Amino acid sequence: MRVQGQPYRTIWMEPDDSVWIIDQRFLPHRFVTQEVRTADEMAVAIREMHVRGAGLIGAAAAFGMYLAARESAATGDYFETIRKAAGKLIAARPTAVNLEWAVTRQLAMISDTRSSAENLQVLKQTAQAIADEDAAFCHSIGLHGSTLIRDIAQKKNGAPVNILTHCNAGWLAFVDYGSATAPIYEAFDNGIPLHVWVDETRPRNQGASLTAWELLNHGVPHTLIADNTGGHLMQHGRVDLVITGADRVTRAGDAANKIGTYLKALAAQANNVPLYVALPSSTFDWNIRDGIRDIPIEERSGNEVKYITGLHGNELVEVLVAPEKSPALNYGFDVTPAALITGLITERGICAAAEADILRLFPEKR
Ligand code: MRU
Repeated sequence: MRVQGQPYRTIWMEPDDSVWIIDQRFLPHRFVTQEVRTADEMAVAIREMHVRGAGLIGAAAAFGMYLAARESAATGDYFETIRKAAGKLIAARPTAVNLEWAVTRQLAMISDTRSSAENLQVLKQTAQAIADEDAAFCHSIGLHGSTLIRDIAQKKNGAPVNILTHCNAGWLAFVDYGSATAPIYEAFDNGIPLHVWVDETRPRNQGASLTAWELLNHGVPHTLIADNTGGHLMQHGRVDLVITGADRVTRAGDAANKIGTYLKALAAQANNVPLYVALPSSTFDWNIRDGIRDIPIEERSGNEVKYITGLHGNELVEVLVAPEKSPALNYGFDVTPAALITGLITERGICAAAEADILRLFPEKR
């Protein structure tokens, strides 16, 4: 992804081994980068959503493990310190399984038969590998998913394909490309006419502030809509395809994604609009089948519902939009049952949201 003509990833290492992120809290108004110096700082950056999105928080946690090892090198209780950091990083956010997956992968890399300097090197290489894989997998998701858009475009004889997406499963939610947006970028870059309906995605407005910003940057035609608009558009034939991301998908195909996705899936089913969930394999939770029962759903502060952050003049301000004394409930995610999902777009291809077909693509998980 390019920002003001310059290529960026959402997390990267400088030649001096410092770790940097884009602090997404200031988008779309300001493009702010931040150096993350310690594992604790990384846990805060994840919890307070300087970085967010399933793939990116996985990569961020992997770099957090590298930072933990760097801090611990001089301490006597080297492995203990790294394990504590691992616990903190995993606890930063509960729903996206990528976080736990990346930390577990890093923990498996360290060994007491190696020196701390060698372990540090291994953790650095693995963090980099996780980030590179994330970008490569998202690129493949784009190649596979764009065939769906192309097929619809052919049926529409050149009229733009209208795609609805919820939240931000774009390059800002990963290391690059994105999951739900990768097929859109790929199709757009190949000249397929398309237009994206962008759900604003209350309460934190990732659609309005992040997806719209990304699409605008890339020149993709799009329109921002209030969250409740999708059903109406579908009833009037103005949505050809829904593509969302996911934060955790069970081996049976139930998908947790940003709160509100389930309602879009119900509306899509009622109106015969295909709904695809795009995800890299790091977002599968191979240990569970029943997403409604077994996926932990993050609950965040009710203040995110009661206040909205935006630009007033040159200042970023928080505005109260509800009676101060009203209680508010703020679940970050919901689960869309597999039965409402037309298919899953993965780095290995497209499959049904059903265990047998998922395992056709990932036979090593049988
Ligand atoms: O709370 P967030 O912004 O970290 O939520 C994650 C998301 O952006 C969405 O649920 C997204 O669609 C899936 S993440 C690839």
